[in-house]
Amino acid sequence: MEFPKIGFGTWTLGGRREPNPNNDDAADISAIKTAVKMGLRHIDTAALYAGGKTEELVGAAAKDFRRVDLFVASKVLSSRMRYDEVLQECENSLKRLNMDYLDLYYIHFPSSEIPHEETARAFNRLRAEGLVKNFGICNAKIETIESYQRHLDAPFFASQNHFNLIAREPQKTKLVDYCLENKIHFIAWRPIQTDLPERNIKSLASRGAYPLLDEMADKYGKTNAQIAVRWLTRQENVSIIFKSGKPEHIREIIDAQDFKLLPEDWKSLSDNFPRQEAVGFDSRGPLPLG
Ligand SMILES: NC(=O)c1ccc[n+]([C@@H]2O[C@H](COP(=O)([O-])OP(=O)(O)OC[C@H]3O[C@@H](n4cnc5c(N)ncnc54)[C@H](OP(=O)(O)O)[C@@H]3O)[C@@H](O)[C@H]2O)c1
Repeated sequence: MEFPKIGFGTWTLGGRREPNPNNDDAADISAIKTAVKMGLRHIDTAALYAGGKTEELVGAAAKDFRRVDLFVASKVLSSRMRYDEVLQECENSLKRLNMDYLDLYYIHFPSSEIPHEETARAFNRLRAEGLVKNFGICNAKIETIESYQRHLDAPFFASQNHFNLIAREPQKTKLVDYCLENKIHFIAWRPIQTDLPERNIKSLASRGAYPLLDEMADKYGKTNAQIAVRWLTRQENVSIIFKSGKPEHIREIIDAQDFKLLPEDWKSLSDNFPRQEAVGFDSRGPLPLG
């Protein structure tokens, strides 16, 4: 089956780095189920999200569906990348998800301290035991991907990176091209970009923040978020994962696939978008690939 262009992200469902004691779990489970019912089968989560609680919410939502109809990805904590830790972390994730295997297991952040060979050896064992079907890596530059790859028994399936009209590091470092050439799915995280007032960055969904985006949205009769997503998914081998707790927003992003963004408009957005950052970032500031 072709790898889906659009997947569902789960960061902030259940909390941020810690579980939110006042979280509306039923609403979050319902959002995940809505996404799947609307046709999204790729669900992205991580041990980091809400201290593991997000995986439990994904597990609760997934109960209503056949496991084979879902493509579930999770990520190992960067602080737990020693051989035994990775094995234990994967088991913990599977328990929380109430699943027998992960379709994709990522290194969440590359390590400059733990030998790549050691982490890779644990990933190989997880795959040999059938607990993990595919290997992935997040937030890594080309050399780092190659360094881990040398010790893995199977090629990386996916690279996940901050990529959108503003966050351009993977484009500028040619990582997007590298993934295409090496048959590694490139998965863009934060495709809509959340507001970051401390960095004076507005969400790509906001009307009036970026006149070029307003202009394209008017031309195609689409929303700003749809244009921003289409700019990504129009690229060969590029998929996205986005998060929304609102059915109408989920529908909107799925519907961003149903129109053709003309090559000249793709190029204009690519070249002329007013706010481009050469390195990835979050609320802490610039975060270059590791
Ligand atoms: N590997 C990594 O290191 C890493 C890092 C960050 C994220 N990720 C993954 O990537 C996923 C996506 O990134 P993200 O959640 O940070 O950012 P995102 O998906 O780009 O943006 C999420 C925000 O956009 C809003 N939104 C969604 N659809 C919208 C629409 N149609 N119109 C207007 N607003 C809309 C959501 O609000 P509503 O809920 O109100 O719709 C939410 O506030 C994460 O959930 C996570 O799974 C991975």
